[in-house]
Amino acid sequence: MIDVFDNFYKGKKILVTGHTGFKGSWLSIWLHELGAEVVGVGLEPYSEKDNFVLSGIGKKIKADIRADIRDGEKMKEIFAQYQPEIVFHLAAQPLVRLSYEIPVETYETNVMGTVNVMEAIRATDSVKVGVMITTDKCYDNKEQLTGYKEDDPFGGYDPYSSSKGACEIAIQSWRRSFFNPDDYGKTHHVSLASVRAGNVIGGGDWAKDRIIPDCIRALEAGKPIEIRSPKAVRPWEHVLEPLSGYMLLAQKMWNDPTGYCEGWNFGPEMESVLNVWEVATAMIENFGYGELKDVSDPNALHEANLLMLDITKAKTHLGWKPRLNAKQCAVLTSDWYKRYKTEDVYQLCVEEIEKFLS
Ligand SMILES: NC(=O)c1ccc[n+]([C@@H]2O[C@H](COP(=O)([O-])OP(=O)(O)OC[C@H]3O[C@@H](n4cnc5c(N)ncnc54)[C@H](O)[C@@H]3O)[C@@H](O)[C@H]2O)c1
Repeated sequence: MIDVFDNFYKGKKILVTGHTGFKGSWLSIWLHELGAEVVGVGLEPYSEKDNFVLSGIGKKIKADIRADIRDGEKMKEIFAQYQPEIVFHLAAQPLVRLSYEIPVETYETNVMGTVNVMEAIRATDSVKVGVMITTDKCYDNKEQLTGYKEDDPFGGYDPYSSSKGACEIAIQSWRRSFFNPDDYGKTHHVSLASVRAGNVIGGGDWAKDRIIPDCIRALEAGKPIEIRSPKAVRPWEHVLEPLSGYMLLAQKMWNDPTGYCEGWNFGPEMESVLNVWEVATAMIENFGYGELKDVSDPNALHEANLLMLDITKAKTHLGWKPRLNAKQCAVLTSDWYKRYKTEDVYQLCVEEIEKFLS
């Protein structure tokens, strides 16, 4: 495996929450390949076809734990037992439409779950770096034509987006109150940051109401792909793009704990900001068959129409930038879904990480 982090992750003790999910499974595979000791904390995977299950990553990492982040005492116990040095907190209820059905659970998981993870960090001396994953939807969406910057106000219309806005406020508060850079080395040894990605796509995601899984389900069933919001514009990016940003940031925070403990956007370049119809069309082109059906409903639940991220800060201060253009991102994503039924999925993921890096 190519190591763009100069052996940094080899032997590091890393705790990943949400490792059974889409992004968490890819992150665990990447970290495992780099020689990190990964402890994963999450709920059961959603289906037998999830990347977590097919790749078998749960059997390779140091510990694969089923636990609920809403249980604060349990989190402290797990942290005390495994003594992680770096924490990537991804566990969440991440779906906008589902959040209208289960708003209370969405808030409990996303907001109190994040607070519980921060409290576990506070109670565990071994933790030096905490990277808290929120989303592009944490910003107060004004449907503006320019991308959101890290210091734009938080907000959110639906329960999911606003719960992530609330997470950001909690993270900011914990950083000011308990992990203040001014007190680093005096009252604590923690560097805490929050990270916001765009609409992440890639192999192994089967979530409900997300465009790529919707496309694949329709293509596999030989049915037209139903598009609810054809004109909705999103910052699409391959899952390995934000993960590379989170990993680079954690490395920088480890080496300079007070220099990077703030909010960071890891979105795509403007040319990858496409509408839903264009993304589904790219999938059809890569598969070589399929058709789209516009099923937009004027009475549908509110979802943002226009959402973009400004990534100038990550580019200039971290030296991070997206590696793939929109076309390459669609090709790599399609590749996984074309091959997962017949190939070793762990090796497929490793091959995709190597392709991405080269
Ligand atoms: N996928 C995207 O487009 C996207 C974009 C921006 C931000 N994010 C954020 O990235 C993170 C990961 O998203 P994903 O797409 O991989 O989601 P996912 O639904 O595939 O995975 C979620 C993970 O969280 C775990 N989880 C959920 N509730 C939990 C609970 N109560 N206790 C313990 N674990 C729990 C699940 O078991 C799973 O491992 C989330 O925080 C999400 O908000 C995702």
